[in-house]
Amino acid sequence: MLPGDGVGPEVTKLAVEVLRSTASVFNHELNVEFYDIGWSAYENYGSPLPDSTLNGCKSADAVLLGAVGDPRADELAPDLRPERGLLSLRKELGCFANIRPSRLLPCLSDASPLSLEIVENTDLVIVRELAGGIYYGEPSGIVDNGDAAIDTMKYHRDEVARIARVAFDMAMNRTKKVTSVDKSNVLSSSRLWRNTVNEIAGEYPEVECSHMFVDRAAMELVMNPKDLDVLLTSNLFGDILSDEAAAVVGSIGLLASASLNKDGGGMFEPVHGSAPDIAGSGTANPLAAILSAAMLLRQTYSLELEARTIEDSVESVLEKGLRTPDLDRGTGPTVGTETMGSAVSHHILESQIAK
Ligand code: IPM
Ligand code: MG
Repeated sequence: MLPGDGVGPEVTKLAVEVLRSTASVFNHELNVEFYDIGWSAYENYGSPLPDSTLNGCKSADAVLLGAVGDPRADELAPDLRPERGLLSLRKELGCFANIRPSRLLPCLSDASPLSLEIVENTDLVIVRELAGGIYYGEPSGIVDNGDAAIDTMKYHRDEVARIARVAFDMAMNRTKKVTSVDKSNVLSSSRLWRNTVNEIAGEYPEVECSHMFVDRAAMELVMNPKDLDVLLTSNLFGDILSDEAAAVVGSIGLLASASLNKDGGGMFEPVHGSAPDIAGSGTANPLAAILSAAMLLRQTYSLELEARTIEDSVESVLEKGLRTPDLDRGTGPTVGTETMGSAVSHHILESQIAK
């Protein structure tokens, strides 16, 4: 467990509570170890990813992360910044496939900024490449005596092929449709991306593969989100589009993600960031962290029933009308992080009584 910065510790606390409730209902033994990452690790160890954290994560079955980032780190050297801790950890754990599902819960249609007509039945998943692209390309840094800066967007065809296979495999279990996002009208790396995706598409004759420029994809997400299913993206484009996809279905406070390695294990993280503006106020939405914990159980241990129980409990507290401020559209009183998270735990514990 890496609570991290900002609202991270607040939301992961409730995710742990939910995991404990689930473990007790289903008679599992749960072993949770806590480590620092990001700004909090920098403060305690002088590094955003101390060896103790890295070793702890490597020896764990799975990692659940809160969020990283702190405005106090703005002036730090790139290697010491909180985000670098997360990027290094993803790399070290071999997490190359980031799965970010966005589905509109019927009871939350009022939370979407879009009209019901547009958002209803939205159910898509962004498959984001997580270990390459402009996040890691070299050279990167300040040049020309500080007058210029460089980042490099580089993709090797093997990197594209492996993430494309994740997307196509996923499509086989959904509606057999992949939309690959790129900017191949401008970028060389995108032309390689598109050609490679087309090659992999040949291995999946049942899946319909189409391509969309990223600017168009940004527009389709708010105009026709229900027409999208599996969106295959590079690291940067997926980062941007997943915040948008989250807002479309209600709030970024709801979106969970899995960052998977080649064995299907890895790290589970809410899509949202550390939200320093509301940190400490007890108002952050813990549901993205809680749903990430559900993904962890399903993905790491194949505990489908346990994962479903958590997801159903989340849906049920939302159906009862509980709303953290991020989900409120002026319709009523809101609840804080603790109340929302504890309601989910109680629902899980009640499901035991029902059994
Ligand atoms: C995300 C976040 C991270 C990213 C940051 C915190 C490094 O925005 O997981 O979407 O850009 O990948
Ligand atoms: Mg992001």
